[in-house]
Amino acid sequence: MTVYNFSAGPAALPLTVKQQIEAELYDWNGTGCSVMEVSHRSQEFKDMADENEALARELLNISDEYAVMLIPGGARLQYSMLPINISSKQGEAIYAINGHWGKQALKEAGRFTQVSSTAKVNDEVYAGIPSYDDNELNAKADYFHYTSNETLEGVQWHKLPQTNGIPLCCDMTSDLLTREFDVNDYSMIYASAQKNMGIAGITFVIMKRDMIGQSTNLIPTMTDYKTYADTRSFYNTPPTFPWYVMLLMLRWVKAQGGVSTIQDINQAKSSQLYAFVDQSDFYLNKVDPNCRSEVNVPFWLHDESLNQKFLSESADAGLKALKGHMAVGGMRASIYNAISLAGIDALVDFMQEFERTNG
Ligand SMILES: Cc1ncc(COP(=O)(O)O)c(C=O)c1O
Repeated sequence: MTVYNFSAGPAALPLTVKQQIEAELYDWNGTGCSVMEVSHRSQEFKDMADENEALARELLNISDEYAVMLIPGGARLQYSMLPINISSKQGEAIYAINGHWGKQALKEAGRFTQVSSTAKVNDEVYAGIPSYDDNELNAKADYFHYTSNETLEGVQWHKLPQTNGIPLCCDMTSDLLTREFDVNDYSMIYASAQKNMGIAGITFVIMKRDMIGQSTNLIPTMTDYKTYADTRSFYNTPPTFPWYVMLLMLRWVKAQGGVSTIQDINQAKSSQLYAFVDQSDFYLNKVDPNCRSEVNVPFWLHDESLNQKFLSESADAGLKALKGHMAVGGMRASIYNAISLAGIDALVDFMQEFERTNG
């Protein structure tokens, strides 16, 4: 049976990537060793890291004005690193909140700097992006942070937030490499790898070089962006295996035709699923259609008493990890890059049949 894994993260990897990992697990690049056993100071590993950086820069069109860094600690570490490194003594940071992760980022930043938010942070159900007047933002704010795609709620920004010149920083953990955007609109972007760039263990950070090393704050060496920028992420022993898997994922994206092709496929996938949910009286999506996510599609059964049955029968049919996050309820299909159109067909067929037999 073909299995489709709709996990929100760690998420599905393309089959060919897993096959390549398997094929070279015992003998990587003719070294006779696994990539897991090779020194990060070896020439082979450095060559691999160079290719990884060059390919990331090519696929995302990242100029030399930006440093690219691989930092352990997940996206959540960036919730602390950003304010520790960037906030000035009298500063303020602005957080646009459209879901769970933005709220977590705001909370953590509040430990290190003064924060303000463009949405009511006590909202428990997020079904849209906040509206605000950018002329009213504090022009002296150190940065404006938002979450381009809220993974739990399935709420995605489809336009660039207006910040009136305030440096823009973005948590793209769940949608980096899934659609096109212009890096030059940003001062800083980060994404942990386990959704579209491989496996857990590293976070990819893109940051304007002129923002790095400017702070007068006392910053632990391991949480100073300068450490990673100056050493090209080789200060301590980095998570070598996730780094290697990231390269395989980047090569895979390139082989698909790059980010623009991937974006077309993702739009086709999500449109098909939303169109099916919208025409049904059995299923429902509560998110404002203008900001529905192309990569995390939450849906609810009108009759919630059928949830458990839906989950067990879908799992039996090879459709895994469809349970929505407990904070949101219902179901969620995470349809990142590794999920093909065939995966959406299989899901829609199952949902149709479940509706027919239970509706
Ligand atoms: C948008 C977003 N930001 C941050 C995180 C936290 O990432 P990590 O577990 O890598 O710290 C997640 C995890 O799912 C996420 O989806």
